[in-house]
Amino acid sequence: MIDEAELFGTPGQTALMRRGAAARILLGDNPRFSWYGRMTALGDPGGDTAEVLAALARLQGAGVCYFYPEDRAERLFADLAARGFATDRHEHFMGSDTALSAARAALNDVPLPADLTLAAVGWDTPREVLVAIAELCCECGVMPVPGSVMRGVALDGICLFATDPSGGIAATASCFRMHHPASRRARVAMWGLLATRPDRRGQRIALHLGARAMLHMHDRHGMRAFMTGVKADNASSSAICYRLGVSATGMIYAQCLDETLLGGSSITR
Ligand SMILES: CC(C)(COP(=O)(O)OP(=O)(O)OC[C@H]1O[C@@H](n2cnc3c(N)ncnc32)[C@H](O)[C@@H]1OP(=O)(O)O)[C@@H](O)C(=O)NCCC(=O)NCCS
Repeated sequence: MIDEAELFGTPGQTALMRRGAAARILLGDNPRFSWYGRMTALGDPGGDTAEVLAALARLQGAGVCYFYPEDRAERLFADLAARGFATDRHEHFMGSDTALSAARAALNDVPLPADLTLAAVGWDTPREVLVAIAELCCECGVMPVPGSVMRGVALDGICLFATDPSGGIAATASCFRMHHPASRRARVAMWGLLATRPDRRGQRIALHLGARAMLHMHDRHGMRAFMTGVKADNASSSAICYRLGVSATGMIYAQCLDETLLGGSSITR
């Protein structure tokens, strides 16, 4: 499912992805669990959320629950802290029809700068290109995903990248299937891993790539909604999400962290 030779990121991040892929082998048949290459996560909170997050954190170093109601976060985090875990959160952003309309409008109105060449990672893309995309992600504080996910081999998905005339990667954006086919969220895709090289920011490159990635997953794979996690203090990420009709939902990605197992490794922005 994942190729050891194509795990990118810090040693802590690659170790987390390795454990996440192992958990996926054990839990992948259960529609409550989701995966898009980083770690296996709970996609469907319930009365047992704290228990399940603690178990995921013990196994992987991090347990994440999507779609968790914000107004219950404080109680959940107190429960996890009492069990000896650290906690963190991303705001759960999501968009469906609004996102698709915004993406179509963006593609109409916002061309890619003329000096850039757009491509999608495929099964035959040279490893060096994946390394360069992952390096850009890391430089921008975004945790990369395994090569088999970037290539659309481990699951349906697309990783777009824009190359400048010198061959450097100027920007990347991705969209992946992440939920089990029997989940009620089967048609909600993970959208994100947006990273634009600092010298090319503000040229609406992420807007163009993000819109394209979303529409590809809708047109090719029937995805109807697009979710992503945004750190509350990440103004640029939040701005591009709203620009593409992906907005705050009143839910969070609740994180339970086993700091000993994580070894000081940060997950993603
Ligand atoms: C987020 C990021 C990818 C945006 O890249 P970019 O190519 O500069 O973005 P764009 O030029 O396409 O901007 C898209 C929209 O967001 C707005 N925007 C971008 N950065 C912004 C900022 N710092 N503050 C306010 N608005 C911002 C733009 O104004 C634009 O809206 P507009 O078309 O209405 O003017 C880039 O800042 C980055 O790599 N950040 C670090 C990594 C990260 O946080 N990624 C997101 C987490 S997955």
